[in-house]
Amino acid sequence: MNLILLGAPGAGKGTQATKIAARYGLVHISTGDIFRANIKNGTEIGKLAKSYTDAGELVPDSVTCEIVKDRLTWDDVKNGNGYLLDGFPRNLFQAEALDTFAHIDGVVNINIDQALLLDRLCGRRVCKECGESYHVSTLNGATTCARCGGELYRRKDDNPETVQSRLAVYNEQTAPLIDYYTKKGIILNFTGSEAPAEVLFEEIGKVLDTFVK
Ligand code: AP5
Ligand code: MG
Repeated sequence: MNLILLGAPGAGKGTQATKIAARYGLVHISTGDIFRANIKNGTEIGKLAKSYTDAGELVPDSVTCEIVKDRLTWDDVKNGNGYLLDGFPRNLFQAEALDTFAHIDGVVNINIDQALLLDRLCGRRVCKECGESYHVSTLNGATTCARCGGELYRRKDDNPETVQSRLAVYNEQTAPLIDYYTKKGIILNFTGSEAPAEVLFEEIGKVLDTFVK
């Protein structure tokens, strides 16, 4: 089963992706994580991506599409049960490019009230080691990850100004993909505003369980 996770910044794509990937044995591929790892390691891709991610803008399509196309040739994907694309595609160009090198079975679209996003993202803390996400309001001052003990950090693009620009990019370039995949008949819509992550995951799981059979 090959899936796409669609949703605004902070909708909960990464949170749900970890759970979905574990439950169905899918390879989790997050383009945002790939760029952050490259920036951290100082690679050529990282040097190019940094100014875009820092500004909340999209890294050029040619680079992003090549990265994903290549990633789908790795052994874990070739020998696995399928994959979950988190944060790709993000515009029509990327969606059409993906159609030329992949077959997608379903698109999990997380709709969210955008008024919630500023607080969610500016309060987010992420584990440097395992990538688990937390919100400061539930950490009780903890600075390390409850799962693996890794140090928690705040993403550089999780500040009010950059969040506004990420949101504008989403509304302008990514939201039209809802229509694109609705027309293909493969969209699965969920609402991520009220329900805690575990409850939303149960809802998604119920649909995906029937979907895979
Ligand atoms: P990326 O890393 O993909 O960021 P994003 O799309 O802005 O989304 P986030 O990762 O911020 O949010 P999320 O939906 O994963 O939410 P999360 O689960 O963490 O991209 C970063 C940058 O990389 C882009 O701006 C761009 O520059 C570049 N890039 C990436 N892909 C690209 C592409 N295809 N093309 C070009 N450029 C690309 O949850 C957020 C918070 O909410 C957490 O604190 C979490 O604990 C909490 N939370 C989650 N679910 C719930 C819930 N149900 N209730 C309450 N709180 C919740
Ligand atoms: Mg994410």
